[in-house]
Amino acid sequence: MCGIVGILGKGPVAWPLVEALRRLEYRGYDSAGIATIEKGRIERVRAPGKLMHLSQKLTGLDLQGTAGIGHTRWATHGVPNETNAHPHIAGHVAIVHNGIIENYRDLKAELMAEGVVFETQTDTEAVAHLLSRELKAGAKPVDAVRHVLARLEGAFALAILFEGDGDMLIGARRGPPLAVGHGDGEMYLGSDAIALAPFTNKLTYLEDGDWAVLTRGGVTIYDASGAKVSRDISHTQASSMLVDKGNYRHFMAKEIAEQPEVIGHTLGDYVDFTQRKVRLEGLAFDWKQLDRLTITACGTAYLAGLAAKYWFEKLARLPVEVDVASEFRYREAPLPKNGLAIVISQSGETADTLAALRYCKSQGQHTAAVVNVPESTIARESDVVFRTFAGPEIGVASTKAFTCQLTVLICLAAAAGKARGFLNAKDEEELISALIETPRHIHEILRGEAHIKEIARKLSAARDVLYLGRGINFPVALEGALKLKEISYIHAEGYAAGELKHGPIALVDENMPVVVIAPRDALYDKTLSNMEEVAARGGQIVLMTDASGAQANEGRNFDVITVPKSHPLVSPLLYAIPIQLLAYHAAVFMGTDVDQPRNLAKSVTVE
Ligand code: M6R
Repeated sequence: MCGIVGILGKGPVAWPLVEALRRLEYRGYDSAGIATIEKGRIERVRAPGKLMHLSQKLTGLDLQGTAGIGHTRWATHGVPNETNAHPHIAGHVAIVHNGIIENYRDLKAELMAEGVVFETQTDTEAVAHLLSRELKAGAKPVDAVRHVLARLEGAFALAILFEGDGDMLIGARRGPPLAVGHGDGEMYLGSDAIALAPFTNKLTYLEDGDWAVLTRGGVTIYDASGAKVSRDISHTQASSMLVDKGNYRHFMAKEIAEQPEVIGHTLGDYVDFTQRKVRLEGLAFDWKQLDRLTITACGTAYLAGLAAKYWFEKLARLPVEVDVASEFRYREAPLPKNGLAIVISQSGETADTLAALRYCKSQGQHTAAVVNVPESTIARESDVVFRTFAGPEIGVASTKAFTCQLTVLICLAAAAGKARGFLNAKDEEELISALIETPRHIHEILRGEAHIKEIARKLSAARDVLYLGRGINFPVALEGALKLKEISYIHAEGYAAGELKHGPIALVDENMPVVVIAPRDALYDKTLSNMEEVAARGGQIVLMTDASGAQANEGRNFDVITVPKSHPLVSPLLYAIPIQLLAYHAAVFMGTDVDQPRNLAKSVTVE
């Protein structure tokens, strides 16, 4: 993960580097650092922890350097202390790195055998020393980089600064994204368009294997073979405005509250509100011709994919394989001729999901991406992009991105069902009408937040929590458990309710809250039986159901969260909301860092 940035400016660059890093903090917040060239010498300032600690350190300094690089870290090699914070310096070179140098142990051993002393536990330091060795041997910076890149294995984006040359930055990309920004007499490097948005909207996205030599006069780009290449300049739409929390205490709270609006916005792109029909344009494939659909994603996006499996199979009778991308990418799964592969990603930069997409392409699949960031690598490399219109999601826990992914996927499944002749006009109208009601229903759920908060108070005292759901609500149970553990650090597991008696019921005692997701649908009675098995063993039940389910359980010693009744297939979009609120308030009661929970990052660009 990690975010990297580099600036060749007209004026001092220290604070512009920090500004760019603020926008990259979603990639990691274990430590941050910058290096600038001050009177011909590299000056470095680093601090463990969040970016504000670096800012505090810089406040007392008067850095005037006009060339510099910066880094915000999600630790892979070495604990997140100041020593391991980037930039790393060796001799006359400073370097920042996103990714993993897989052969760093061999490189380190080689350098140590020559007497090089390593200061850090990072993989990156080996690259700095290799470059320094090249320079000491008389190589020019460009040749030094060329030679060193040839020695590196793994996935990386690098930005390199050379002492004694205040008009040069070199960036390289193999795997993680890197963009070159074109200013007026200024040049930039950054992990993404958002980082560079305050400075320029003219970007060149480096292609995999590219490396670029920047001076204030422009950029020369080389491809993996070392040949000079020309790459297009595009105009990014990324906003230079930093998103703020408004009146909310946390971004997560704000993003939960935004869901009626962003789901409505997303529906606007996929649904004809007047005709109550699904509307899809620009497809590069024919749903009728498909034999199988392969869905890959990570984390919450994977759980959206799991819900999609139920939808595609039910509405379109299309067989679906869903995989976590980190497993799928190395499984060498045989894929059918003329199959469709859908990847799902908020950021569009998740390394495993990107690798899965590339594998599917190499196997001749049509590829489509459900993404929130339209300029991301995944969006750029997919045949078709189905955008979610969640807007920037800042909280590490995915909330509005998830429900927007669900929104797009249910619309795609409906389109497929229609095209394949399994969804008739009446059923389509019923489904789309229910979807159109979703924003209103979510408003209604949000109005009950105070009650959910009281239940969350009880959950926050638990050591373990179980979430149960069946059918289309099984993925919601998994998502509930994921959300709770990632922000409150309470251990939680999601189970298919029918699986309970095959093992996990052994965990149930009077200290175990069990959250049961059970709208009154075709599987309600089955789920209720599973719930009774828990109640009989003393488990504390939190029942999420609709009014009729709540009525049927009146007088029981349960906590009940009532969710508006909707079309059975639409329920994940609604039940996702109390699930998020429970996790959010439990985390607030626990006093955790809700928006930036420990050990996590918003975008996982390493495997
Ligand atoms: O950006 P992506 O959607 O590809 O990210 C995938 C996961 O890393 C992400 O959903 C993660 O699981 C969230 N933190 C969960 O809330």
